[in-house]
Amino acid sequence: MKLLVLHGPSLDRLGTREPEIYGSLSLAGINALLEETAKQRGLELTILQSNHEGVLVDAILSAAENGNRGILMNPAAYSHTSIALLDAIRACGLPVVEVHLSNIHAREEFRRHSYTAMGAVGVVTGFGPDSYVAGLHLLAARLQQHAG
Ligand code: DQA
Repeated sequence: MKLLVLHGPSLDRLGTREPEIYGSLSLAGINALLEETAKQRGLELTILQSNHEGVLVDAILSAAENGNRGILMNPAAYSHTSIALLDAIRACGLPVVEVHLSNIHAREEFRRHSYTAMGAVGVVTGFGPDSYVAGLHLLAARLQQHAG
């Protein structure tokens, strides 16, 4: 089963970016954890990071035609601003699980609302890299249940 993993803006700087909030693991480290989980569950991942909203919109909208069955996504700051990403999520026809390293509900007021989460099947927030790993398990489990 093919799944798309999307990382939004500034997540390419993980490891050095505000480590007191986001931890010391790099994006490559998170991707390695995801690949390990994917191997255990027999999943095939395509992973993309972009700082550009339109690139993320295009990736979401073309995910199904590229053979993906679902999307695991950390939209980063676009969670709080992007109706364009929400519309793409709603248009793509695939289940999207949203993840955040930090607990967006325990930070600044402006992070408490996520537009993209309005189109997601669920959100895992606040568990550091484990948010991604749990999100991948939950997405795969949901797809496997629905396939059965
Ligand atoms: C984030 C939380 C967002 O509020 C922030 O803009 C990010 C990272 C997280 O993973 O905790 O860039 O999505």
